[in-house]
Amino acid sequence: MYLILFGAPGVGKGTQAKKISKEFSIPQISTGDMLREAVRNNTELGQKASEIMKRGELVPDDLILNIIKERFAQADCKNGFILDGFPRTIPQAEGLADLMNQLDLPPLLCLEVAVPNEIIIKRLTTRETCEKCGADYNPANNPAPADRICTICGGKIIKRSDDNEDTIQKRLQTYENQTAPVKGFYEKQGRFYAVDGNKSVDEVYVDLKAILKK
Ligand code: AP5
Repeated sequence: MYLILFGAPGVGKGTQAKKISKEFSIPQISTGDMLREAVRNNTELGQKASEIMKRGELVPDDLILNIIKERFAQADCKNGFILDGFPRTIPQAEGLADLMNQLDLPPLLCLEVAVPNEIIIKRLTTRETCEKCGADYNPANNPAPADRICTICGGKIIKRSDDNEDTIQKRLQTYENQTAPVKGFYEKQGRFYAVDGNKSVDEVYVDLKAILKK
């Protein structure tokens, strides 16, 4: 199974990708998580990406395509994967298509999760995250404990540096200008489906699975 979970920031791509990953035993490949890890480890990539991410802009395509190429070479990708937050530009979608061809992999299915912007802003301004393992805490479905210590790994629970209202607005603008056009790329191939993400986490998952079973 080779999937893209597509959609604006905060629609629930990561939440749903984790559920699919667990049930179908394929890895979730989140370029956002990979970049945040690089920032934490202060690697060359992390140093280049850090300020760009804080501004809610996109990291250059060549850097993203390089990390994807390296990730696809790992053994856990041999039976499929779920791409979460990638591709985000037409050149990334084209680079991905080339890479899939080179590796002789089957066509990708692109599943969009759609949520109105006002709901996205509410979700992201109230989200908190473990700085160590990235676990998600949100008053709506998984409130953070009072001591702000992650119940999974014991890390500190913080606010992501791009989860403030100004940067969220910028991320939404970046999505409209640079990422939304990628939809057409997969629609033309007849490999694009959309679900309503403004439902409970479990209801969205049921709708996604119905498409996967088609
Ligand atoms: P990235 O980490 O990909 O962030 P994003 O796309 O902005 O997405 P989020 O992780 O914020 O949201 P999500 O859709 O995964 O939703 P989630 O499940 O967490 O990217 C960050 C930055 O890195 C980018 O801005 C860019 O700078 C850079 N970057 C990354 N990839 C790149 C690329 N390919 N090219 C260039 N630059 C790149 O849910 C959000 C919240 O809502 C959670 O708290 C969750 O609990 C809650 N929630 C989820 N589902 C529901 C529901 N159904 N009902 C109620 N609450 C829900």
